[in-house]
Amino acid sequence: MVAQPILQVNQLSKSFTPPAMLWQGVSFSLAAHESIAICGQSGSGKSTLLFALGGLEPVQSGTIEFNGQRIVAGRYRYTPGISYVFQHYHLIQELTVAENIFMATRLNPSAASPDPSYTETLFSTLGLKPLLNGTPSRLSGGEQQRVAIARALITQPKLLLADEPTGSLDEATGAQVMALLLQICATVQTGLILVTHNATFAQQTNRQFELKDGHLYEKN
Ligand SMILES: Nc1ncnc2c1ncn2[C@@H]1O[C@H](COP(=O)(O)OP(=O)(O)OP(=O)(O)O)[C@@H](O)[C@H]1O
Ligand SMILES: [Mg+2]
Repeated sequence: MVAQPILQVNQLSKSFTPPAMLWQGVSFSLAAHESIAICGQSGSGKSTLLFALGGLEPVQSGTIEFNGQRIVAGRYRYTPGISYVFQHYHLIQELTVAENIFMATRLNPSAASPDPSYTETLFSTLGLKPLLNGTPSRLSGGEQQRVAIARALITQPKLLLADEPTGSLDEATGAQVMALLLQICATVQTGLILVTHNATFAQQTNRQFELKDGHLYEKN
């Protein structure tokens, strides 16, 4: 039996400055637990596409179906089951690492409360246990991004949208964080859409796409 896609995107088009289109005819589907990478030049509209996929950015036309439900683009509310990780970690400096992570479950009442074994897997895989009681300001960039990944995954999302998650990290740290990101998504069976400029990281996902001249192409 072929698994239902977790995400089905059909003929999505976006313009900030009509009639010029940022991208159009964007169609693809993502199987449950699948990881894909989206590359493309700066300004090609990758971040805008990720926001649109999560329902945070209005589009001109097209449809997005997530987990069997139509996503209403641009209602500016997080869609339950979809989490984000960004280049800049956006941790709250006044809170401890643990408080940062668990805050995500309080902000999203419809999310499953994480069971202890899931939390254990998350924290041990991401190497967070020694960091939980400290504050983010004392952490390196790589450590802060590992915390941001845990915060995104604590609600047990079906889909993680990661926008250049290694963009603020040096090469070696970026490679470590990327390996952990791919490992934890595979372990907890979360689909991943990774926006990256790094071709090596892109190759580590199941399928690779490029946003170019306003169209999304799948690479062979
Ligand atoms: N809210 C907005 N209003 C108007 N134009 C916008 C808005 N957000 C983004 N844009 C424009 O849309 C284009 C695509 O932006 P986007 O951030 O999606 O690109 P990107 O591919 O993520 O680039 P980068 O690799 O630099 O992050 C840019 O020209 C940007 O200036
Ligand atoms: Mg961007």
